[in-house]
Amino acid sequence: MTQDSIRDNAPFDMMSGFGNSFATEAVPGALPVGRNSPQKVPFGLYAEQLSGSAFTAPRNENRRSWLYRLRPTASHAPFTAYGRASLLRSGPFDEVPPTPNRLRWDPLPLPDAPTDFVDGLVSYGGNGDVGTNNGIAIHLYAANQPMAARVFYNADGELLLVPQLGRLRLETELGRLEVAPGEIAVVPRGVRFRVLLPDGTARGYVCENYGAPFNLPDLGPIGANGLANPRDFLTPVAWFEDVDEATEVVQKFQGRLWATTLDHSPLDVVAWHGNLAPYKYDLARFNTINTVSYDHPDPSIFTVLTAPSEIAGTANCDFVIFPPRWMVAEDTFRPPWFHRNVMNEFMGLIHGQYDAKAGGFAPGGASLHNCMSGHGPDRTSYERAVAADLKPHKIENTMAFMFESRWVIRPTRFATETPLMQLDYDDCWAGFTKAELPR
Ligand SMILES: [Fe+2]
Repeated sequence: MTQDSIRDNAPFDMMSGFGNSFATEAVPGALPVGRNSPQKVPFGLYAEQLSGSAFTAPRNENRRSWLYRLRPTASHAPFTAYGRASLLRSGPFDEVPPTPNRLRWDPLPLPDAPTDFVDGLVSYGGNGDVGTNNGIAIHLYAANQPMAARVFYNADGELLLVPQLGRLRLETELGRLEVAPGEIAVVPRGVRFRVLLPDGTARGYVCENYGAPFNLPDLGPIGANGLANPRDFLTPVAWFEDVDEATEVVQKFQGRLWATTLDHSPLDVVAWHGNLAPYKYDLARFNTINTVSYDHPDPSIFTVLTAPSEIAGTANCDFVIFPPRWMVAEDTFRPPWFHRNVMNEFMGLIHGQYDAKAGGFAPGGASLHNCMSGHGPDRTSYERAVAADLKPHKIENTMAFMFESRWVIRPTRFATETPLMQLDYDDCWAGFTKAELPR
């Protein structure tokens, strides 16, 4: 990849690599050389370490960055309770009893009233507990206003953003990045950022990961390359604004939102170095691996990022995609088969059509299939696949994804009571004819 092709992926200068130790300065000479915390930081900047892991985490899991800023983060008035974003929920998810039923929702409508990214967050469900650093929350956002004169940060976990409609421009403490539908972005726990809307409106999905940060999956026998390749992950260069105007800081802490107001913008980090930083990834660059003989591999073959739990191979959350791909398997039912899994699956659709559902699963919609619930292709998709002439076939113009978690995803009251929920979802599996045994 050339530097130009990196830039083609974004309007801002980006640095290539996953979890690299980067060093970047927006003003020449701002980044201290040879030490993190010199007695006198260049230009009188304030040095601050931002930790994303315990100090003593193993080296390959240790994440931290050193920030050099115009003013210390510590200078602020107390936070007070924030009253808006009334549909945002947090773990533990115990508003309503978790249902064993399969659930599916129509797309979340865009708001009528002026609504920015923070106020436009709507929680659909989650698991675990922010108090014990495990589990996830799943939100959708629908917004029609940029975040003006305020920034947000999440003390409860990192945020995986999956735009479905409209670009997001993220102005963060560590630099600027723009993410369009078909791309994803991850903002680490604690990093303050503002969301602007270059297209005026935006809708998408958020996985709030309370657990260990997302990482690339092991590749095993696949080898050293494949799936999401590290160099396709892009991290912004240092950028700052020198603004002495009132700026609201909203944070999510232990499930609730809090706010305070500074007399300046906290997006004032002039230089930074380290391996804890926002990043983006274009899902079109996923190196999709699949069968060239028969049968459909387990969907783990499509894992982009995995947030591990303490049980090896049993993720707090996997982020899995269903991208355009060739289907060539012989004597094989090619769509996803019927299954009942111990893991729990929340799906969304960015664009196109998902190959296991002929209808009802729309871009911007969502579905939830929890532990041991039987699901799979709907009847129309099943009948088409059984009758299909198995020539090589390319599935194109689609991008579905899944947040898969080891714990049951417990829906919110909104998710179970909204008219967006499809009361007839079970019908897509009705009417299958009984198999006929030989007499
Ligand atoms: Fe499934």
